[in-house]
Amino acid sequence: MSTPSHSTVQRDKAAGEARIHEPVMAGEVTQILSLGRPLRIVDATVGTGGHAAALLAAAPASACLLGLDRDRTALTVAAQVLSRFGSRVILHHGDFADLAPALARAGFAEIDALLVDLGMSSFALDNPARGFSLRLDGPLDMRMDQESPDCAADLVNQASEAELARIIWAYGQEPAARRIARAIASARRRRPITTTGELRSVVERARGRARHGRIHPATRTFQALRIAVNGELERLSWLLEKAPGLLSAGGRMAVIAYHSLEDRPVKKRFFELAASAGFTMPAGRLLRPGAAEMARNPRARSARLRCLERVAA
Ligand SMILES: C[S@@+](CC[C@H](N)C(=O)[O-])C[C@H]1O[C@@H](n2cnc3c(N)ncnc32)[C@H](O)[C@@H]1O
Repeated sequence: MSTPSHSTVQRDKAAGEARIHEPVMAGEVTQILSLGRPLRIVDATVGTGGHAAALLAAAPASACLLGLDRDRTALTVAAQVLSRFGSRVILHHGDFADLAPALARAGFAEIDALLVDLGMSSFALDNPARGFSLRLDGPLDMRMDQESPDCAADLVNQASEAELARIIWAYGQEPAARRIARAIASARRRRPITTTGELRSVVERARGRARHGRIHPATRTFQALRIAVNGELERLSWLLEKAPGLLSAGGRMAVIAYHSLEDRPVKKRFFELAASAGFTMPAGRLLRPGAAEMARNPRARSARLRCLERVAA
């Protein structure tokens, strides 16, 4: 697997950028998606290119990879990380919900191996300027695609209290959603909430500062707002609808989810398709990271990997 050079990481740190993302379950993903024939690989969430590099390194020299991401900044790092593969890599700034047009532009008639690694990259999460982190103070942004119009501050300051409560409950599964929404509505009447630190303090005051197990009291609220700002579940459902039909005969797709709101629709769709003729689940129901990876990389702990194969005609 290719990792960025030490000097690249140092330069990113010097520029105040977050560190490069460590790909989760890279060994399992590579094994599942290595089909031993010339491949058209699509990494629909290429991020900073860790999985993509591992997939290309394991694939025949004729394999090409189309990498998509909504995050243009991550793509510039992916271009550097994947430069050694030359013209075998095409990177495209875009949304995996629009997979078919992206394939057509890259000249891929269909897909042999598709990876979808949901959630956030450490690269964006650890950069305070992106506004995803509740640990690091920064503007309340949370847009994966920095060119999209509405950020978390717009939502937090403009949505009705009822809408905020619905979002925090539905996408954060936060039992204190109504109390938190009331606290946000009251705080923003005094002045707009514009930073992650301000939002964290409002949630802490409403929720109490005590941690619940390992998680900070504002974790669920931050997750909910991020999912809403980026329309994550709608985009996942479009992808699950369309992507299986874009696989070649014998082609596979692998999805890594990090919480049950993501994993549930993946599981439902894969089971439905596997129950019909035309698809199987070659890796069984579910793969989880090994103990060593979980110990080394805390972000791997919640990962759930599922795989679907289009049965050869
Ligand atoms: C967990 S990271 C992927 C990390 C990547 N596998 C690696 O090895 O670096 C998830 C990435 O998916 C991107 N993303 C999330 N939703 C997306 C969507 N609808 N379309 C395209 N990219 C998306 C995010 O911007 C982020 O870079």
